[in-house]
Amino acid sequence: MPALDSTIMLSEKTIQARVREMARRISEDYADVDELFMIGVLRGCYIFMADLSRALSIPRHIDFIALSSYGKGTVSGAVRLIMDVRIDISRRHVLIVEDIVDTGHTLDYLLRLFRARNPASLKTCSLLRKSGSAQVDVPVDYLGFEIPDVWIVGYGLDCGDKYRALPYIAQISPQKKQRT
Ligand code: PRP
Repeated sequence: MPALDSTIMLSEKTIQARVREMARRISEDYADVDELFMIGVLRGCYIFMADLSRALSIPRHIDFIALSSYGKGTVSGAVRLIMDVRIDISRRHVLIVEDIVDTGHTLDYLLRLFRARNPASLKTCSLLRKSGSAQVDVPVDYLGFEIPDVWIVGYGLDCGDKYRALPYIAQISPQKKQRT
């Protein structure tokens, strides 16, 4: 792992405590449901999804979807489907699992995509949401942390595909972002 000059924003302990809290709330809310269908948005969600799904005390099914955003950082924010889920989500209770909501375009796309498939219910969960960067207003039913609009890495989030495996979330300097 290359050295990273950065500031820790959320420690491993803080993240783990919050993930357990989120899992407890989700488990309570879905206590009467046969099975919760968790759909993770690759790739950033993979660590959060692993920890959250293991902390639940209810039956759950895990699936993933992969998207690519053409217009990252632009107002259009066009999103393209790269890999769809394997399951038929009609009449299922679906929870979309994201690592971060930034402009909101990805989650907005997914909500429209999945609503058209007639799930029994559809909710969203994100570990992080950046404040002040939304271009589309999307609901986040289960939110871990509201964070400022800065570059961050770790716990699944990358910079040039590095640092995803860090157990904490760190703010990275703009200079560092440009170098990678
Ligand atoms: C990140 C993140 C979300 C999306 C949110 O994915 O995982 O899926 O951006 O951004 P938005 O709210 O502006 O749409 P990214 O495109 O960086 O890909 P990755 O998960 O593979 O790192």
